[in-house]
Amino acid sequence: MTDRITRFIDMINQAKLDGFVLNPGPSLTYLTGLNFHLMERPTVAVFTASGKISLVLPILEREKLKGLPFEHEVFPFGDDPATWGSAFQQALTALHLQHAKIGIEPTRLRVLELRYLEAAGSAQFVDGSQVLASLRMCKDAYEIEKMRQAAQIAQTALLETLKRIDIGLSEREIASELVIQLYRAGSDVELPFQPIVSSGPNSANPHAVPSDRLLQDGDLLLFDWGASKDGYFSDITRTLTVGQVDPTLLEIGAAVLAANSAARATGKPGICAGDVDFAARDVIEKAGFGTYFIHRTGHGLGMEAHEAPYIFGENDLILSEGMTFTIEPGIYLPGKGGVRIEDDVVITANGLESLTDLPRHVLPLDLFRA
Ligand code: CO
Ligand code: CO
Repeated sequence: MTDRITRFIDMINQAKLDGFVLNPGPSLTYLTGLNFHLMERPTVAVFTASGKISLVLPILEREKLKGLPFEHEVFPFGDDPATWGSAFQQALTALHLQHAKIGIEPTRLRVLELRYLEAAGSAQFVDGSQVLASLRMCKDAYEIEKMRQAAQIAQTALLETLKRIDIGLSEREIASELVIQLYRAGSDVELPFQPIVSSGPNSANPHAVPSDRLLQDGDLLLFDWGASKDGYFSDITRTLTVGQVDPTLLEIGAAVLAANSAARATGKPGICAGDVDFAARDVIEKAGFGTYFIHRTGHGLGMEAHEAPYIFGENDLILSEGMTFTIEPGIYLPGKGGVRIEDDVVITANGLESLTDLPRHVLPLDLFRA
C-alpha cells in the first residue's frame, strides 16, 4: 500500500468513519494515480477503515488497474444500465459496508453514483471533505515543484501574449492568444480554468468571461489565468493600464498592491488563515475602498483550482508548512474598472514564499509590447 493511502486510511479511522467512496477526480488521482473518463457510466473507488480497496467500474476501464501498487478488488459491469446496481450491491456487501457510515466528497460525488450506493443497503453517507483537506492540504516537495513549474509556464505565456496585444483586439482574441501561449510554454492540455481577460468596465466583474469588447485607450486590462503541469495548477492575476487611465483606477491599483504585499508579509506557520484575509482587507478598508473588495483574499490551490485552505476572515484553520494558496485581493468599481493582483504562495518553515514573481504593479501595457 502506498504512503498516501496509508495516511488516508488512518484519517478515515480518526474521523470515525467505516469507509470512504470517491468518484474519479483529484482526490482519487492523488491517492492512486488513477484517472477515468467520468461520463454517463458510474465509477467509484471504495476504501474501508480496515484498509480494503474496491473499484466499481465499467469493464472497459479494467485495463487501467494493471500493475496498481496496492491490493484491490474489482466489481466491473457492462453497458446494460440494468446491471449496474448489482455491481454496487456486491461491492458494498463484500466490504461489509451496507449499513456503515461512509465519507463522501460532496463537491465531487455525483447523484448518479450516490443513488446506486444508497440502493445497495442502508449506509449513511456523510461529508468527508475535512478528511481529504487534511490529507491533501500540505504539499510535499514534488508537488511544490510542479506548482512552481505551472507558475513559470503561466508567466512565460502571459509575457509572450502581451508582446502581441494591440488596441482594437477583442478580449476573446487576446484570450485565444493566451491559450495558445500557455500550450506553447508547456501547460498540460487541461487548463485549471478558462482564462479571464477583461477590459475597461468589464474588469469590475471578478468572474468576467472574455467578450467581443475591443481594447481601447483608457482601459484597465485584467488577466486571470493559469497553467497546469502534471496535474498541478497555477492561478495568477495581473492588471495593466492601456494608455491614459482615470487616476482613481491608479489609486485602487496602489491599494490592491499594498494589500497583496501585506497579506504575503503576514502568512506564516501558526497563524490563522483568517489573519491573512484581515491583513489584506485592513489595507483596502483604510484606503477607503472596503465596500469594493467583495470576495475572500484567496483559496487553496494544487490539483484543484479551488481547494482548502480557504482564506476568509472567519477561518481559524492554523496555517502550516507546505500549504499552498492564492493571495488575490481586488477592488472593483462598477462601471469603471477593477484591479486584482493574485499570487500563488506556499507556507515555508518560517514564513511564506511566492511561487509567482511577475511584476505586481499595475503597469502600462506598452512596457511589455515588442
Ligand atoms: Co485567479
Ligand atoms: Co484564484
